Amino acid sequence: MKKQPAVIPLDGPGGVGKSSVARELADRLGYYFLSSGMIYRCMAWHMRDRGWDGRMPADLTALDDFSLRILHEGAPVVNGKTMGADLKSEAISALASRLSVLPRVRELSNGLQRELVESIPQTTDYSGVVLEGRDIGTVVFPEAPHKFFITATEAVRADRRYLELKSAQPEITRESVLAALRERDRRDSTRELAPLKPAADAIIIDTSEMDLEQVVQTILARLNASTVAAAGA
Ligand code: DC
Repeated sequence: MKKQPAVIPLDGPGGVGKSSVARELADRLGYYFLSSGMIYRCMAWHMRDRGWDGRMPADLTALDDFSLRILHEGAPVVNGKTMGADLKSEAISALASRLSVLPRVRELSNGLQRELVESIPQTTDYSGVVLEGRDIGTVVFPEAPHKFFITATEAVRADRRYLELKSAQPEITRESVLAALRERDRRDSTRELAPLKPAADAIIIDTSEMDLEQVVQTILARLNASTVAAAGA
């Protein structure tokens, strides 16, 4: 029988610091780190490369030749091109958010995520995956036993995102980051398909007043507590 890796879904809104938390958590657990947002960003990059600017409806036939290579260390490769810092730009964030409302896009992304996760025990030494996104606990891996959803106030998330972006994009302002974040939150959480929301059994952590280490410790403590409880049962 095929060995299934353990999957820990880590969902939450933009700017909350999901990638940093997921990466650190994966490191501590000896798990593989995977960002589903990065897959949507790569698709958005590809669509823009094919002339889509987000204003007209997206012609999804452009995704027929979308090929993505994800490396555990290093940037993803889209149709042979290694992605740069632009993948994290506000322009790509907005395009990814627009694109991700479309069913065909979500199906493609979900398939890629599941394939990647299944291949991990065969292709790497990792026994599990920390997978971050918006709908991992609700749609992509709803059967995962331990799911986390991290939040923070809008102001804190705008600060975190601004700090993350300003060295690569000196022209951005906190106001523009806040406005873009609000628009993305609105779209990501009100879309019909797989909206941003915690799974019914997710552990919700408000990280507004925590630093990265405190968030990671909180998650590890919850994981340890449930392992101990399961062992005692
Ligand atoms: O997490 P991120 O900021 O890199 O995600 C970019 C966009 O991709 C986000 O605004 C919505 C979309 N996304 C999604 O719809 N579902 C996911 N699981 C992850 C991201």
